[in-house]
Amino acid sequence: MEVPMDVVTDGGEMQRRVLALREAGRRIGLVPTMGALHEGHLSLVRRARAACDIAVATIFVNPTQFGPKEDFSKYPRTLDSDLAMLKSEGTDLVFVPEKDAIYPPGFSTYVEPPAVATTLEGAARPGHFRGVATVVLKLFHLVPAHIAFFGQKDFQQSLVIRRMVCDLDLPIDIQVCPTVREPDGLAMSSRNRYLSAPERQQAAALSRGLRAAQQQYRDGVRDAGVFRQEIERSLSDAGIQQIDYVAVADGYSLQPVESADERTVALIAARIGTTRLIDNAYLSE
Ligand code: PAJ
Repeated sequence: MEVPMDVVTDGGEMQRRVLALREAGRRIGLVPTMGALHEGHLSLVRRARAACDIAVATIFVNPTQFGPKEDFSKYPRTLDSDLAMLKSEGTDLVFVPEKDAIYPPGFSTYVEPPAVATTLEGAARPGHFRGVATVVLKLFHLVPAHIAFFGQKDFQQSLVIRRMVCDLDLPIDIQVCPTVREPDGLAMSSRNRYLSAPERQQAAALSRGLRAAQQQYRDGVRDAGVFRQEIERSLSDAGIQQIDYVAVADGYSLQPVESADERTVALIAARIGTTRLIDNAYLSE
């Protein structure tokens, strides 16, 4: 049976439709994305469908979260196949705003992101979380959902959003869902399609390093320096030289820890050729 899926481009129309559904007693689940969809994104849609009556996805490549030297202009845009994938997952509504619908001429109000945005990705990508927090706050207003679903893949992003929701009293629940991986462990990412075949091979070293560190944790290691060395060794063994960071940090504050416990997360950012990849895992998992 053909299942209808509505695609809306106008912010006001989107907001009216979602508010009407809320008033009719429906629970709304929101999955914000930048498109170039893969199984990671679709896993969030499945969660939204399971937990809510109406699943709404948004597709918007948000210019304000890209630095001037980053890949905004070449970020993959695959709208037709994205819509087909969302439809086959049973998504009810998709919001695909034009740039001006989010940032009309004269737009100049931004969210100052919380302290947890200052380290790691925030340090490597100045302004990134300001752009993320701003667009996510706007999406929460335009799609007033009960629950929004985010991936653990972008661990620091999920902390920034949780903190913003708490600090600004936003009436929405945040659910953070597990990272979906390729069979060799590589975390799925829209940016994986930039990798050449040899780079794709190298990229598996990120998750290999994380798994090795988890094994050390199971073996009783707690010293953060030992985990960092193990992960760095996995990366350099694979020929990855450009490591932005390997961090062993508290999963709530992202402050570095010296001794790991069940809240401790290992986080990696590395460049393979011109492609920047991130990954993370709880050591105790
Ligand atoms: P994007 O990179 O498209 O990711 C959209 C959502 O999918 C995010 O919550 C991200 O964490 C999640 N995701 C990505 N890869 C995943 C994987 N392998 N497994 C599970 N979830 C995964 O993150 C953004 O877009 C943007 O910053 C956005 C929040 C949409 C704001 O512009």
